[in-house]
Amino acid sequence: MKVVYIADLAQHVGEEVTVRGWLKDKTDKGKLYFLLVRDGTGVVQAVAFQPEVSAETFAACQQVTQESSLVVTGTVRADKRAPGGYELALKDVQIVQLAENYPITPKEHGVGFLMAHRHLWLRSSQQHAILLVRAEVVQAVRDFLDEHGYVNVDTPILTPAACEGTSTLFETDYFGEKAYLTQSGQLYNEATIAAFGRVYCFGPTFRAEKSKTRRHLTEFWMVEPEAAYMEFPELLEFEEQLVSYIVQRVLARRAKELATLKRDVQPLQRVVPPFPRLTYDAALQLIAEKYSQVPECRPLTWGEDLGAPHETLIASQFDRPVFVTHYPVAAKAFYMQPDPARPEVVLAADMLAPEGYGEIIGGSQRIHDLALMEQRVAEIGIPREAYEWYLDLRRYGSVPHSGFGMGIERVVAWICGLSHLREAIPFPRMLERIYP
Ligand code: 4AD
Ligand code: MG
Repeated sequence: MKVVYIADLAQHVGEEVTVRGWLKDKTDKGKLYFLLVRDGTGVVQAVAFQPEVSAETFAACQQVTQESSLVVTGTVRADKRAPGGYELALKDVQIVQLAENYPITPKEHGVGFLMAHRHLWLRSSQQHAILLVRAEVVQAVRDFLDEHGYVNVDTPILTPAACEGTSTLFETDYFGEKAYLTQSGQLYNEATIAAFGRVYCFGPTFRAEKSKTRRHLTEFWMVEPEAAYMEFPELLEFEEQLVSYIVQRVLARRAKELATLKRDVQPLQRVVPPFPRLTYDAALQLIAEKYSQVPECRPLTWGEDLGAPHETLIASQFDRPVFVTHYPVAAKAFYMQPDPARPEVVLAADMLAPEGYGEIIGGSQRIHDLALMEQRVAEIGIPREAYEWYLDLRRYGSVPHSGFGMGIERVVAWICGLSHLREAIPFPRMLERIYP
């Protein structure tokens, strides 16, 4: 018995092989059964023709139900009409477990129902394709950073203080003291660059987002590169190189999955550097002129942060991701470096994805001067004791440095063309969902 994976069937044409998997679907044509078997690597049609197979095998074909686990043996035939291009002429079918009435059927289900059955929904072709794209994105990120000299140095999940403001902190009890689930590994990255030069952390991050939006999860994965001696212009170049690498690699390696998702790949093919750059001031002007083009969009007064409709409007003016730069100090995080030429704005940039997907990257140059950082900590009123170690980094060999965070689900949702982030992660955590 030669056990093979469906993805490798092309190498076994004419041979008798065994495939272990699950029944995706079956068609009953009287004396003929088509079993659609999937094993995680692909889908193959197994054909049983009554006089040619044993009575037991034919009975197993009759009995087997959708999503039963099964082991099938047969001869591999090339067949242009078969899904995947190959089929199995069945010889034997062993049912491993006969599935009960499967709740997810080819008919339409509401998203609430599907989310409640996420543990099963993951098996369907579209969800399978999305998560393969996600795995490719993650691998592309790691390969790109590793090849560019960035060291993977991970950061803690339990933390004593906030990084991205106190309004979205998940609090937990840490042996009688307060601790928080991390919002970002950035502050720790700023410590490890002094040891490694260029680093990245890559892990789950948490935001107690109390709003229900299609762009927010309460638990999401973020990759955060940070580099010593990197200044703002170089930061933007690095970001656009990373993002175009990811997109081009998914196009090259996951074309089949994008086709399953019916994703129009033309807008993705255009994602090559350089990306357009727009200052916050220019963005405000653009919004003032064109806000009526997007529902719920309104003009902004200087100092306000951009909302989702503003991001959608700005992104719609360009055919590839766009950077919005030089935000007002008050609209952004405390650690961002003010522009020496114009201290009321920071050397920060958000990268907005095309097609209405919004911010995929937030990044900036960081304050490296001790006195300025002390002043910012005092101004925003965060407890200085908790940040004393972070201030130390400005005492012992401080250098200009920059970094950014890229949300993996936002990137996957954009590349796959999903309307909501919840399908871009295996088990989404949202305001009203923590099951399954
Ligand atoms: O812009 P953010 O908040 O930046 C930071 O956390 C920085 N400390 C990162 C850094 O410079 N090292 O978040 C970065 C990215 C966003 O651009 C977005 O892609 C994603 O993280 N993100 C979310 N994704 C899903 N759900 C949420 N609630 C998210 N909040 C941010
Ligand atoms: Mg941001």
